[in-house]
Amino acid sequence: MPSVPSKIVCVTGAGGFIASWLVKLLLEKGYTVRGTVRNPDDPKNSHLRELEGAEERLILCKADLNDYESLREAINGCDGVFHTASPVTDDPEQMVEPAVNGAKYVISAAAEAKVRRVVLTSSIGAIYMDPNRDPEQVVDETCWSDLDFCKNTKNWYCYGKAVAEQAAWETAKELGVDLVVINPVLVLGPLLQPTVNASILHIYKYLTGSAKTYVNSIQAYVHVKDVALAHILLFETPEASGRYLCAESVLHRGDVVEILAKFFPEYPIPTKCSDEKNPRKKPYKFSNQKLKDLGLEFTSVKQSLYETVRSLQEKGHLPIPKQNDDQPIRILQS
Ligand SMILES: NC(=O)c1ccc[n+]([C@@H]2O[C@H](COP(=O)([O-])OP(=O)(O)OC[C@H]3O[C@@H](n4cnc5c(N)ncnc54)[C@H](OP(=O)(O)O)[C@@H]3O)[C@@H](O)[C@H]2O)c1
Repeated sequence: MPSVPSKIVCVTGAGGFIASWLVKLLLEKGYTVRGTVRNPDDPKNSHLRELEGAEERLILCKADLNDYESLREAINGCDGVFHTASPVTDDPEQMVEPAVNGAKYVISAAAEAKVRRVVLTSSIGAIYMDPNRDPEQVVDETCWSDLDFCKNTKNWYCYGKAVAEQAAWETAKELGVDLVVINPVLVLGPLLQPTVNASILHIYKYLTGSAKTYVNSIQAYVHVKDVALAHILLFETPEASGRYLCAESVLHRGDVVEILAKFFPEYPIPTKCSDEKNPRKKPYKFSNQKLKDLGLEFTSVKQSLYETVRSLQEKGHLPIPKQNDDQPIRILQS
């Protein structure tokens, strides 16, 4: 049963990995959702229409980040906006302008529509990329990526997310919009959409045999359902303000392949690091206290990895290995 009175909210980029979960949970809570997609007739968005409550309370609107009018129409009449749509690419032309335009346009349209709050999906990419940060410093919401470093290293995704978040803060201040930002780390977990998105590819490549080795690198992870729940928590909690780092743990790639191999030994998971010379990179320290203080409980990274692979199997992206009748059924142990 819906737990809140019916309110109308807009979710941009509704067919994406994170947004699909957000739409699902909002519908389950009784919200009416206007989901923007670039092409409502594309079969890749059809999973949205199958969500519980979608028939009665989901309206798909055609909108593009570079088209103010389309966003204005979708947002007009809404109580809140979840702005999750963004290019996810390192191509500078495809990344930067649409991300910045989208942020400015969504905030401007929200101001016109007098929405209560905008929750913007930024990224760890807007926080972490700073080569001069002391390795012992705890990474939290006060940190910003160094834009010159992102440019010089051609990390256009992180550059685009950082400048889009900055543009959102500036526009919100100028127009008096209540903005709260969530900065997720790499997101894993079950897919609702039929296609494999970029963050799931990060794991997928270790299961298909396409990655023969793993890199000497670290990465922070979080479960997609926790990310979607955090978005809703930030919208529903009046005291929420500023940025929220959404992260469960940081692992070396060696730890990731080890966990995957324990759960799924039947796949050709790499066992060798591509860098045999340098010392193993150490995880960085981070704080997710702000979200914990709002009551968010994080799913373990082991569970996230397990559910990601099971979902890839269920969606037909990975072959399901034949189970030998003599083998015990594998259960997840934390
Ligand atoms: N997944 C992660 O690990 C992660 C981590 C941190 C932050 N994020 C952020 O979370 C958000 C969602 O990411 P995701 O992982 O769910 O990615 P995704 O599945 O690729 O979804 C991205 C969505 O953005 C839409 N989009 C892209 N360019 C657009 C444009 N010009 N106009 C309108 N819509 C556009 C896409 O629509 P189409 O379907 O039409 O292409 C898609 O629905 C993004 O802001 C991303 O930067 C993701």
